[in-house]
Amino acid sequence: MRPLIAGNWKMHGTRAEALALAAALRAGCGDVAHCDLLVCPPATVLHAVAQALAGAPIALGGQDCHGEANGAHTGDIAAAMLRDAGASWVILGHSERRADHGETDETVREKVLAAVSAGLCPIVCVGESAAQRAEGRETEVVGWQISGSLPQDFSGVIAYEPIWAIGSGQHATPADVTTMHAFIREELHRQFGACGAGISILYGGSVKPANAAELLALPEVGGALVGGASLVADDFLAIARATPR
Ligand code: 13P
Repeated sequence: MRPLIAGNWKMHGTRAEALALAAALRAGCGDVAHCDLLVCPPATVLHAVAQALAGAPIALGGQDCHGEANGAHTGDIAAAMLRDAGASWVILGHSERRADHGETDETVREKVLAAVSAGLCPIVCVGESAAQRAEGRETEVVGWQISGSLPQDFSGVIAYEPIWAIGSGQHATPADVTTMHAFIREELHRQFGACGAGISILYGGSVKPANAAELLALPEVGGALVGGASLVADDFLAIARATPR
């Protein structure tokens, strides 16, 4: 499996800012052909970024979609709309959505089904809070999230993002990442049999150019889901370059 380096721009970017970032990524991505690159801009700029990146080896994704194909859901975005705007991926169940919008594992599972039926590849986020880790419950929590959020015959990617590592500057230790990714792999095997081996597991949470080489070389780390550092083209591309070949 080729490593995937995905940027989650979160709620950042006017059209001018997004286009400047896209232009810098396009200009600098020539020497990172050993990984797959993906950016997930805000929905309002998705189409403009898709046009700016047309023909470049950088895929586009949304940051969320609704669980239904269409309907009376003010403010929501359907998976097919993301696809129409140029996305081929979508991040689902990010901890910020679970916290800000009360998304449950069941909501996330419905969204995964909607995404797949619209032709999008889902990246499903899981991860424990600081309190849950302090109680020694991190694998239990992540195990429940995996069994609750993934439908039968899941095809997509998992992102392990410990909540306490997101935006804190404090990434999970290599030992903790190794333990959790091995656990997730076991769970995927348990749920999906042999197909579980083909599901890539990204790490996310304060991935920066300075720690990327160490984190991305760990077993069962199939790439990174990058927040803050994905807003700076040089940093995002430096993370991609640090990915083992
Ligand atoms: P940071 O890289 O800013 O910690 O964010 C990680 C994240 O939430 C990506 O989805």
